Amino acid sequence: MSEQSASDRAALDGMKVPYHIGIIMDGNGRWAKERGLPRAMGHREGAEALKQVMEAAADFGVKELTIYAFSTENWSRPPQEVKHLMMLLDYFLERELRRFDEQGVQLRHIGRREGVEPKRLARIQEAVALTANNDRLILNVAFNYGGRAEIVDAIRAICKAGLSPDEIDEETISEHLYTYRSPDPELIVRTSGEFRLSNFLIWQASYAEVYITDVYWPDFGREGLLKAILAYNERERRYGGVTVES
Ligand code: FPP
Repeated sequence: MSEQSASDRAALDGMKVPYHIGIIMDGNGRWAKERGLPRAMGHREGAEALKQVMEAAADFGVKELTIYAFSTENWSRPPQEVKHLMMLLDYFLERELRRFDEQGVQLRHIGRREGVEPKRLARIQEAVALTANNDRLILNVAFNYGGRAEIVDAIRAICKAGLSPDEIDEETISEHLYTYRSPDPELIVRTSGEFRLSNFLIWQASYAEVYITDVYWPDFGREGLLKAILAYNERERRYGGVTVES
């Protein structure tokens, strides 16, 4: 175990570590702009940051991460930027896949399949199949994802299954979301200081704690994740109830 890992684990001793964390990886563009670099460089650094955060998450005992990689709204970005983000995803799936597999990462895709280029979709499905039995860390990649679209798709699936209105409750909806295999995230992290969910896990995040930091995503890293988990431990989760004073 590295010295850093040992000291981080000591900081987490006795702390609750969330099982599932959702992350809105924001601020790549501003990170690049502040350095006089093209936005593409910010996304590239963002992809590097993601690898560090995945490793740290597994090390800290987080079992599941859901990352907002590309939203249904992101298609409206300049074509050059969309192309670069697709290239990064391809790179991620091709070059890093073996390493993820060796590290015990299970990749899952959440999002709409329609609208994704068939070749890319096939690559995503191959990566999902290859890593399906890994269990050190589950990485849900929200790609071509929108929270409202997810709820619409769930309702369509429920209608197609022929359920009657009386048979539908909250659990039915949860079971038909893209995240049907995952418990709701206890913590949502957003970098770069914006106070919005931006259509990310809007059903699943109903009772999640939200942690917002001014740090841009490329600078978040292991230390950022540790701080987010420590801040989560300061919160009191009441799920709409009250705390009974003794
Ligand atoms: C938001 O930053 C970030 C994104 C829209 C994409 C996130 C993508 C990565 C971190 C790249 C790697 C991901 C994978 C899965 C390969 P922004 O561009 O909105 O930043 P800004 O608000 O400062 O402009």
